[in-house]
Amino acid sequence: MGTLAVRFKKAASFISLAFILSGCFDEVVYLDQNWNEDNQLRTLSYTTSQGSQLIPYDWFINLKDAKTGLPLTSDIVVERLKYLPDYQADSNTNPDKLPIGFVKDTDPETGDWIGINCAACHTAQIVVGNTAIRIDGGPGMGDYIAMIQTVKNAIDNTLAKPRLFKKFANAIGADDSNSLASAMATQSEALASYIRNDSSIDHPGGFGRVDAANAIRNEIFVSDLGVDTNYLTPAAPVSYPALWGAPDFERVQYLGYARNPFGRNLGQVLGVLGRINLQNPENLFESTVRRDNLFYMEEWLRELGSPEWPTEYLGDIDNTAASRGAEIYQTPDVTGYACVNCHVLPDSQGNYPKTPAQDNLFGMQFTQTPLIPIEKLGTDTNALTTFYNPEPINMGMLGLLGLDGVSQEMSYPLALIKVVEFAVGKQYLSAPALNQTQQAVYSGLRVDSATAPEFDLYPGYLARPLAGVWATSPYLHNGSVPNLYELLLPPEQRSDEFYVGSFEFDPEKVGYVSTYSYNTFKFDTSVSGNSNSGHYFGTFLSDEERWDLIEYLKTL
Ligand code: HEC
Ligand code: HEC
Repeated sequence: MGTLAVRFKKAASFISLAFILSGCFDEVVYLDQNWNEDNQLRTLSYTTSQGSQLIPYDWFINLKDAKTGLPLTSDIVVERLKYLPDYQADSNTNPDKLPIGFVKDTDPETGDWIGINCAACHTAQIVVGNTAIRIDGGPGMGDYIAMIQTVKNAIDNTLAKPRLFKKFANAIGADDSNSLASAMATQSEALASYIRNDSSIDHPGGFGRVDAANAIRNEIFVSDLGVDTNYLTPAAPVSYPALWGAPDFERVQYLGYARNPFGRNLGQVLGVLGRINLQNPENLFESTVRRDNLFYMEEWLRELGSPEWPTEYLGDIDNTAASRGAEIYQTPDVTGYACVNCHVLPDSQGNYPKTPAQDNLFGMQFTQTPLIPIEKLGTDTNALTTFYNPEPINMGMLGLLGLDGVSQEMSYPLALIKVVEFAVGKQYLSAPALNQTQQAVYSGLRVDSATAPEFDLYPGYLARPLAGVWATSPYLHNGSVPNLYELLLPPEQRSDEFYVGSFEFDPEKVGYVSTYSYNTFKFDTSVSGNSNSGHYFGTFLSDEERWDLIEYLKTL
């Protein structure tokens, strides 16, 4: 299997300021990850709606960035926010040249919206020399909150400037400027509420991070349910994880609380600009989630391979050193553990150690992704302390309806599981209703057998297989360690501060370049939620052993 799947030149017109300032690449390549021109999976993944609705579609196309006066969709604006222009956009699949993962959502009731999908957050880009390597399913670098703020600023700026407003109103063909102005003001407020729900100035995520779990909490239980006292400050921004392999994992999310892929993806949509009715008893749990698209997206994900280290761009791998590294990976250190005990490896046929067949109603087996108790890890705890925060959720109106398993006050994990369960049920039964078998398929056949042990949740983080880990810096759930070399150093020797946002890659230490450059985010590990402590495994090695292990990790 060759590593190079697609190579094309950026046309001269794509050259933009941000591009000149941040790494002058003039060709873009994709590695062979099984998403290609033949199966169209890349194109589909970049352009299919999941049911997120940011602002009306024609507004997005016609609004001008408040800082530069350029269209919001222009490369300069997109690159400033570290989303990825879709250089291959064609007039059929992406006529308005939206950035990767920015998609049109057509709502039968409310019309066309701009939304985002998986690819906006889960597509990486690595720049070496003249080349940008795009990694499907890799962690994105986009600043989600800054993106929403930029859209809000564009609306506010247009409202504040009569000439700009007039041009905008003409461009979208609005005939009543008063009602347009009031719709824009309402939308601006909705964006302010997203920003408040999903971020906090005391715990800025910066590029490539968002506090997903608390965003979902606040979107569902504050905005959708309408109970303000359920608000919790998003204090735990986390990195966008890589997606290859995930459909087969025993459990997912950093805290290991999800299994059913449909429920997981639906919960995500509700946290990412989707809407659900939790207040009107008539269409309770009805949502903007695009059921069938969401199912297909998970199916496409099943086809996605992990990226292989591209020697053509990143240099050869020293096989002798790598085989010494392979030994180290299998050898317990002073902690009593070997890497392989937690980050499982495939056998020579490519099969990972699996969960027992008898635990699943259909005999399905899943790749082991053990949940490691926090005491063994010592990494940052904010994601855990917010998720398992003892303050209960007030279920508002939902508590009054006598719904199965719902009481007036519930812990966040249980409340989330319940709402997702009802919302999934509503989706499955909406016309055309899915039969039992179809429902099981949409749920990834994740149905426990009668003898399966109970799915337990406890405070800890997931240990995933490390396939393609070379392409997923910065490391740990909170992105607090810039490269693999530093992860293998004792915590006190890791960088206290570094800069996130450069696409430039360091093939030696393996990670993005983390020194200061234009338009980067200063990652301060002394901020609550940003600790780079813990994960002592591998930190007792000699420097020579460390480099051998890194050489091996490049081969995974
Ligand atoms: C706004 C950005 C964003 C969008 C859009 C998004 N995700 Fe994610 N995704 C995240 C973040 C952040 C996490 C980590 C959340 C956590 O574990 O707390 C995550 C976690 C995941 C995981 C868990 C991976 C693992 O190994 O634990 C999967 C799988 C996943 N996303 C798939 C998807 C799919 C499929 C879609 C589209 C249907 C999607 N995501 C849309 C940001 C996003
Ligand atoms: C006892 C279980 C355990 C052992 C042993 C272990 N790890 Fe980990 N590892 C984890 C967990 C759990 C995480 C996630 C921690 C977090 O994000 O806070 C992790 C995270 C990582 C990451 C970052 C992954 C990412 O996407 O950010 C890398 C790389 C890694 N480990 C490599 C290793 C190597 C190499 C070894 C052996 C020297 C090793 N680990 C040993 C449990 C383990």
